[in-house]
Amino acid sequence: MSVRLKIALTIFLTGFLTAVGVVATVLYAFERFERETTYYRAAGFLERVVAEHGDMLGMQERFPQEFSGFLRSLVLFEPDSQLYLLAMDGRVIAMSGDTPLPADFRVNMGPVKEASGAQPMPYVMGDDPQSMDANAVIAARPLRRSAILKQTDAAGYLYLVCHKSVINQSSLAAFQGSFVKPTLVLILAVVALSTLLAAWVATSITRPLAQMSAAVAHVTREGLGDLQTGQAISGDVYLGLPKTASDQVGNGTDEFGRLNNALHSMLDTLRQQWATLRRLDHFRREGVSNLSHDLRSPLTATAACLETLENRWAQDDAHADDRQLLAVALRNTRNAARLVQSLGDLAQLDEPTFQLKAELMDVGELLDDVSLRFRERAIRQGIAVTADSDSIWAKVDVELFERAIANLMDNALKFCASGSSIQLAARKQGDQVHITVTDTGAGIAAADLPHLFDRLYQARQSVAPATGEGGKGLGLAIVKRIVELHGGQVAVSSVLGQGTVIDLRLPAAV
Ligand SMILES: Nc1ncnc2c1ncn2[C@@H]1O[C@H](COP(=O)(O)OP(=O)(O)OP(=O)(O)O)[C@@H](O)[C@H]1O
Ligand SMILES: [Mg+2]
Repeated sequence: MSVRLKIALTIFLTGFLTAVGVVATVLYAFERFERETTYYRAAGFLERVVAEHGDMLGMQERFPQEFSGFLRSLVLFEPDSQLYLLAMDGRVIAMSGDTPLPADFRVNMGPVKEASGAQPMPYVMGDDPQSMDANAVIAARPLRRSAILKQTDAAGYLYLVCHKSVINQSSLAAFQGSFVKPTLVLILAVVALSTLLAAWVATSITRPLAQMSAAVAHVTREGLGDLQTGQAISGDVYLGLPKTASDQVGNGTDEFGRLNNALHSMLDTLRQQWATLRRLDHFRREGVSNLSHDLRSPLTATAACLETLENRWAQDDAHADDRQLLAVALRNTRNAARLVQSLGDLAQLDEPTFQLKAELMDVGELLDDVSLRFRERAIRQGIAVTADSDSIWAKVDVELFERAIANLMDNALKFCASGSSIQLAARKQGDQVHITVTDTGAGIAAADLPHLFDRLYQARQSVAPATGEGGKGLGLAIVKRIVELHGGQVAVSSVLGQGTVIDLRLPAAV
């Protein structure tokens, strides 16, 4: 659920619950007010009746037949009420109503005592003999036998029941008509309006948030490479971010404004650090490249001198021991020259400004050339090499492409024992050219496969036969970089002990 929706929903629920609470409180207060006024009126009425007719118990005993009529005449102008004469135990002795009560019917005396006690009550609810399943507001007064001596004990009670339904119906209807319905409609209208307003406010508040998350997503997707210096702090709208200056939400002083400013500053710091890193990385690559260039010549010259000596001492038995030392020196010098060359090549290929000299070429022909270059070495090692492909055209940088295939051939020859075979092939599949170098050599363990193209990674299990061709784990990293520069991908599949297939996929020429 979006923040926008959450804020709008929260405001709606708050408004709605408040409205329900207000209505419930008003209804409760109204009901209580009604009970209190009814009780107050009933208590006053009883007070007057008892004051006027001091000896009601005596009257009832003297005129039991006429007494009910007398009670009825008392409540003639109180149509909502019923008057009862109670004995001390709650038994109904006489009543104003006509509905007969069950024999020996008794009213609950607790409320009667509460209502007739000295303690003033806001209101008292008690039994309604006419309908015992509902409580009603009641009032009660004690009756004494002596009208003159007030201190004598009570001998009975005058009990007044005010029927709630009758009392409240008309005023409740009036209350509902004049207050509840209009108020409910008004409250619902206010809640709807405030929800709409909340949605609008939430949208405007969260818009900068959406812009900021879009900007962060852009940086996550594209990296910092395309940021321009100073762009993030100049106040320009950048990557869709709101400005850092005054015309953004909350003048940049509210929480979103501060977050926005912080994001601008963070992007700028990151961009500066990224630029510094790139500069340092450039210096490092340039240094490696220069060093490689400077070392290559003396190493090549040393190797040439050692080769000359090797030729000179080839048939000379006097130098039989020296020949072994010479072979070690020559091997190490060649390995060092190869390493220096690989480091220099990688540094060059990593330069962001490196440009391919791509041209449309017959890939099959290039594979033939490379296989020819390695033919002599393959024959020496007893390995069969076949290059077999139709003419397939792709846009490639010839020098780099040959370098990549040469690295793969070098690996295949290094990790194949005598009697194995290597096959170079190219085929077109859809809009891609697949160039595969397949060997039946040592193979590569599954655990090594994911790291094979990492720089300086050498598989632990694959052991090169002692060819003297040492390596440093840079060959496949160079292959990967070259293929990526051509807009392609590289994949490897291998079974330990059975052989390896390296698959270069390049875009085919249109
Ligand atoms: N055809 C292959 N058969 C078996 N193992 C291979 C093969 N090609 C590569 N490997 C394994 O992958 C590792 C990395 O190869 P990579 O060409 O990157 O380095 P290297 O040949 O050891 O050294 P460099 O190429 O820098 O002289 C090798 O050390 C080897 O363990
Ligand atoms: Mg290699």
